[in-house]
Amino acid sequence: MKIRHLIEPEDLSIEELDNILNLGSKIKKNPEEYSKTCQGKILASLFYEPSTRTRLSFEAAMYRLGGSVIGFSSPKSSSVAKGESLQDTIKTVGCYGDICVMRHHIEGAPKAALMKSNIPLINAGDGGHQHPTQTLTDLLTIKSLKGRLNNLTLGLCGDLKYGRTVHSLIKAMSRYENIKFILISPEELKIPKYIREEILIKKNIEFKETKNLEESLVDLDILYMTRIQQERFEDNSEYLRLKDTYILDTDKLKKAKEDMFILHPLPRVNEISTGVDDDRRAKYFQQVEYGMYIRMALILSLLNIENILKKDNIVDEEIIKSSKKCENSKCVVNYERNIKNIYKIVDKDKSLYKCFYCDNIQRLEGQEDIL
Ligand code: NCD
Repeated sequence: MKIRHLIEPEDLSIEELDNILNLGSKIKKNPEEYSKTCQGKILASLFYEPSTRTRLSFEAAMYRLGGSVIGFSSPKSSSVAKGESLQDTIKTVGCYGDICVMRHHIEGAPKAALMKSNIPLINAGDGGHQHPTQTLTDLLTIKSLKGRLNNLTLGLCGDLKYGRTVHSLIKAMSRYENIKFILISPEELKIPKYIREEILIKKNIEFKETKNLEESLVDLDILYMTRIQQERFEDNSEYLRLKDTYILDTDKLKKAKEDMFILHPLPRVNEISTGVDDDRRAKYFQQVEYGMYIRMALILSLLNIENILKKDNIVDEEIIKSSKKCENSKCVVNYERNIKNIYKIVDKDKSLYKCFYCDNIQRLEGQEDIL
């Protein structure tokens, strides 16, 4: 039996995703009904990077299902501090837990770990790459507030380069009908190439890249604000220069539709002034609440307690081995020992390939590159 994992949004089919969202709403209405469903089950929670909402919502989710939680909230208190590899850690964890959730500062770390995992593994955020469970939260919030996931214009604003929640949200929302994206960021913080080319352009999704929040507001059904991700910048002076590019306040909001909702994965720094919190359209704290229920639904699905995930839904993509390491210095292949350099094909004629772990698009030319 193949184990299912959630590393990126595409790991779930649209049908499975919809069923998980429906289960999330059902649990929210009547959590008591599910309070014993995970009795005797253990969630291993491995957080190599700081977190408030994601870690606590996963732990609360497991406890509310009647299960237990083991793990760490800082790598300093685990054997990683002694130099243990990620894959050895995950093999060990598989002996203790039934399901594992991992947050890591290195891009592609959960994907490298899953290759040695004998229990379902959930990516709770890997560097500036992906954050699929925040996306589940966002989808449940949008569906509950708007009643639909199609026919929407979404404005994504702030750090679109390093903001992993944005990358996963674009991947997921671009699978629904008639979705338009307005991508609002400074030039330096535009979406990565693999999102622009491999998702938006390839799938023919309507999108616009702009610097101007105020001009964009009038068209939006959802405004998704994000924090400028200080921890991902190589040069802190660059962060200081960009950090207050966008500050949403009550004055700017006058331009927005009456039924536009404001979301934010949180934590916020300065990008939404606290005055906005009292506006009916501000939904980011409600979004936090949805996060716990959807994680309860996800745990029940991955553990097969709720029969939602199909066993045969795993698409095996063609993988190319190479002697070349991924050029992204933040990719897991540049940190961990014994991780193979493998790629997916983007455009064979142009010799373009995408790193299997972090999605970075790069050129692999000669036969000596491709094994
Ligand atoms: C986000 C994250 O960790 O990527 N937070 C979250 O999980 N709710 C967003 C952020 O840190 O800015």
